Amino acid sequence: MSEFVKIVEVGPRDGLQNEKQTLTLEQRLNFITDLIDAGLKSIEVGSCVSAKWVPQMAQSDELFKQLPQRADLNLSLLTPNIKGFETALAVGCKEVAVFTAASESFVRKNINCSIDESLEKFSEIMQAAKQHNIRVRGYVSCIVDCPYEGAIEPQQVVKVVKQLYDMGCYEISLGETIGTATPDRVQKVWQACLAELDSKVLAGHFHNTYGMAIANIYQSLQQGIRVFDSSLAGLGGCPYAKGASGNIATEDLFYLLSHMGFETGIDLDKLMTASQNISQILGRKSLSNYTNSYLQSRCA
Ligand code: HMG
Ligand code: MG
Repeated sequence: MSEFVKIVEVGPRDGLQNEKQTLTLEQRLNFITDLIDAGLKSIEVGSCVSAKWVPQMAQSDELFKQLPQRADLNLSLLTPNIKGFETALAVGCKEVAVFTAASESFVRKNINCSIDESLEKFSEIMQAAKQHNIRVRGYVSCIVDCPYEGAIEPQQVVKVVKQLYDMGCYEISLGETIGTATPDRVQKVWQACLAELDSKVLAGHFHNTYGMAIANIYQSLQQGIRVFDSSLAGLGGCPYAKGASGNIATEDLFYLLSHMGFETGIDLDKLMTASQNISQILGRKSLSNYTNSYLQSRCA
């Protein structure tokens, strides 16, 4: 049997948080329904953050309430503090994601506190999560470069990843936030992390600003990583990392994985439908090379 790679679809969160236009709840709901139809099981639905900071993610709790509560689905919400956690809990969310970074300046710009302060907020979330049986995923941004501080030392990444793990995060996603990394630098980060932690608790989150995301994912696969975040049509970016473009497109990740013999559970035809639908809503061409070639070949 082929080995399974878990894809965490972050388009409805990482993707839409960076769009100029704010989609309606109905459009966001249709987007997520399409993703579920395409076989994606782990989907980051939105964020319980301040709507003044990220207006595109307002009412993520309302959106969550309208989604199917199926045992085979893992629908999560991003929560920066206990207020966000309580919002997620109130709508029956079973998994939340906390997020910090390996760079002090990025954490300050993103969530207005230091790394240590962010961890203090998360420890409050952890306690409540344990009590309510909620799974907590962790993010560490700027694992290679920071838009404000430049290069980040792998040991600094390991330190924060380990703190999240020791605190109780079941999986930690390493964010290559600005998409400048090349595979040699990504290898160094994984090697440093894998000296301390099992590959099973680590995930890769690669932005594609310089077109390096797929090469970085290939490198990560070679290092034993089997969980990747991606976003349909390559949507995404972070409002607090200017110039950074979208995540690796789910379609391009699917192409790489399926051709390397990995199982993902995705239905390609339905993924194409989902991709075309969201590009139509946003009024622009997909950033996925796979989707664009597929559409061209159908027109030829
Ligand atoms: P703050 O101003 O320091 O917080 O912001 P505060 O506690 O002083 O509260 C200020 C206001 O926000 C108050 O409202 C609070 O009630 C409200 P006011 O009295 O002014 O009306 N507030 C909240 N509202 C809703 N939900 C909450 C919440 N907490 C406080 N949870 C805060 C701190 C974290 C709220 C703010 O900085 C924020 O919302 N930041 C948004 C960060 C964000 O969403 N960034 C993008 C996601 S991270 C990312 O993209 C990277 C990733 O993809 C990985 C990678 O690529 O590297 C994950
Ligand atoms: Mg991101």
